[in-house]
Amino acid sequence: MARYVGAIDQGTTSTRFMIFDRAGREIGRHQLEHRQIQPRAGWVEHDPAEIWENTLKTIAVALADTGLSPADLAAVGITNQRETVVLWDRATGTPVAPAIVWQDTRTDYLIPAIDAEFVKSRTGLPPATYFSATKIQWLLDNGLRDRAERGEILFGTIDSWLIWNLTGGLHITDVTNASRTMLMGLESLDWDPALLELFGIPRAMLPEIRSSAEVYGTAEAVLPGVPIAAAIGDQQAALFGQTCFEPGEAKCTYGTGGFLLMNTGTTPVRSGHGLITTVGYRFGTDAPVFALEGSIAACGAAIQWLRDQLGVLETAGDSETLAGQVDDSAGVCFVPAFSGLFAPYWRPDARAAIVGLSRFHTAAHITRAALEAICYQTRDVVEAMAQDSGTALDCLQVDGGVTANALCMQLQADILGVPVSRPAVAETTALGAAYAAGLAVGFWDSLDDLRANRHEDRRWQPSWPAARRTEGITRWRAAIDRTLDWVS
Ligand code: G3P
Repeated sequence: MARYVGAIDQGTTSTRFMIFDRAGREIGRHQLEHRQIQPRAGWVEHDPAEIWENTLKTIAVALADTGLSPADLAAVGITNQRETVVLWDRATGTPVAPAIVWQDTRTDYLIPAIDAEFVKSRTGLPPATYFSATKIQWLLDNGLRDRAERGEILFGTIDSWLIWNLTGGLHITDVTNASRTMLMGLESLDWDPALLELFGIPRAMLPEIRSSAEVYGTAEAVLPGVPIAAAIGDQQAALFGQTCFEPGEAKCTYGTGGFLLMNTGTTPVRSGHGLITTVGYRFGTDAPVFALEGSIAACGAAIQWLRDQLGVLETAGDSETLAGQVDDSAGVCFVPAFSGLFAPYWRPDARAAIVGLSRFHTAAHITRAALEAICYQTRDVVEAMAQDSGTALDCLQVDGGVTANALCMQLQADILGVPVSRPAVAETTALGAAYAAGLAVGFWDSLDDLRANRHEDRRWQPSWPAARRTEGITRWRAAIDRTLDWVS
C-alpha cells in the first residue's frame, strides 16, 4: 500500500516537489528556481515551458533521491502561485505568450475605468492589476483575440497549465484559483457572463471549474497510476496546511508576497476594510469554505530586491545578520510597493520608497527597514481583519520562507504586540496540497487526523513597550502617505 503523498508546489520564484508521510513529516523534496523575466518597468513574466520542465525535473529528482517509485505515492496534490496567466494553443499545447505574473502592473491603465462596485459585488475582489482578468484582456488585445475567438487558445492559471500537461489534455481549474481571476461569481462559483463581457474574454478559452480535492485524472506520462487529486491556490493551501479548519482561524504566509487568510466558514464575508473575499477550499461536493484575505504585494520580494538589484546581500538569509548589526533602522522607512500596494490600500499606481535617509545610514539600516516593512504591512492587514471580523487575533500563525528569519519574526511580534507561532513543518503550502489530495483518496480519514499532525516549533513573544510600537506605526503611516503621493 502507498505510504506517502506528493505535492507539486509551483511558486513565484521556484517549483518544488515534496513527499510527506501519514504524520505530515517531510520524506523528501527537490526544488528548482525559474527565471524572473522583467522586460520593462512594471512587467513580470515567466516562461511556462520552463515551469513545466522544472516540474518534471523536481518530481524525478525527489523520487530518485528518496529511492521511491510512483507506486509509493497514494496521490499527488498541486498548489501554485495564483492569478498568473498562461495562454496556450489548444491543438499543440504550446504557450502562445510568456506567462504574465500576478505582480505585473502593465494593465494599470485599464483599472480606473472599471466599475469597482460592480466587480467587487460579483467577485469579492476590488479591480486591480493583481488578478487575472486584465492580464488576459491585455494578451487578447495585443494580437491574440481572433485566435481566441476561433477557440484555438486556452487560458489557465498555473494549476491548469500543470494539469493539462500532467494528464495530457484535461482543461480544468479549481475553485480557489478561479476565484482569483476576477471572472468567477462568488455566489455561482462559475464563470460570470457579465464579467466575461466586461473584459472581452471568450468563454471557450476558460477551463472547467472543479473542487479543490477530487481525483481529476492520473499523471500517466510522469507518475503512472498516481491520481492527481487536489489543486488549490498556494495561500489557501497554506491555510489548510496550518489546519485552520474552523471559522476565525487564520495564518500568515510570507513568500514573495505576504498573505493573511482567515477561515470564515461556509458564508462569504464581505470586507469593509480593504480585504478580499475568496474561496478557501472546497472538498468534492461539500459546501465551499470561504476566507477573508489580506494580500501584501511584496514581502520576501523586498529582500530579493536588496539581493538581486542592489547587491547588498549575497543570500536572502544574510538579511538577518546584516539587519542585526544595528539596533533599529534609525528613522529609515522602506515601503516596497514595487507592484503597487495591495490590501488594504489597493493602489496599483503606488511605487516603492525609502524615506528618512541621511549620510549616516548604511545597508544595514535599509535592510532592517525592509524587515520592518514586512511586519508593518502585516500589521496593516491584521488590523483590517480585526475590524472586519470583530475579533482581535491573540496569536499569529506564520509560515513561508521569511519565517526562517528569526529577527524578522521577533520584529513581527514586537510590531503586532501579540505572539507569533511557527509550526514544525514550515512548508505548510505543500503540506496543505498533500493533505487535500490525501483526503480525496482516503489516505487520511478526517480533519482530526490532520490537526493531530500540527506541532509548534517556535514562538516569539512581543518585547517592545507600547510607546515604541505607536511611534513606529506613526512613522510607517507617514511613509505610506509619501508612497501614495508619488504617481509615476
Ligand atoms: O497571489 C500570489 C501568491 O499566490 C503568490 O504566492 O508564495 O509565490 O509569493 P508566493
